[in-house]
Amino acid sequence: MKTKWVTLVMASSALAFSGAAFAGDAAAGEKKAEACMECHDPAEDFAGVSADEIAGKIKGVVAGQTKHKKKLTLSDADVADVAAYFAAADGK
Ligand code: HEC
Repeated sequence: MKTKWVTLVMASSALAFSGAAFAGDAAAGEKKAEACMECHDPAEDFAGVSADEIAGKIKGVVAGQTKHKKKLTLSDADVADVAAYFAAADGK
């Protein structure tokens, strides 16, 4: 009985962890990133940058912290998806 409880706790904390981390979906991100491709080539612009870092940069753009030409309106989930796609598109 005790073992079963521990297993349950471990399973649910693993779930909570993957929810908190950048669980971006690269396939969904590909569609959401279409609007970015006009100006960005992720294989060049974000080569070697991790999904976490890209997400941080995109959030900075969304928050208006850069002089980005295009105003971006993306939810946190959109940012995670686009970041996952950009990170996966760097050809490595
Ligand atoms: C009209 C052209 C254009 C479009 C469309 C565009 N960008 Fe950009 N983006 C730029 C340019 C130019 C820069 C570099 C200079 C700057 O920050 O404005 C840039 C920079 C960035 C940066 C780096 C910011 C930093 O802090 O280093 C990120 C991240 C970014 N863009 C994300 C996106 C995403 C995500 C999209 C699509 C949702 C997008 N951009 C669409 C032109 C564009």
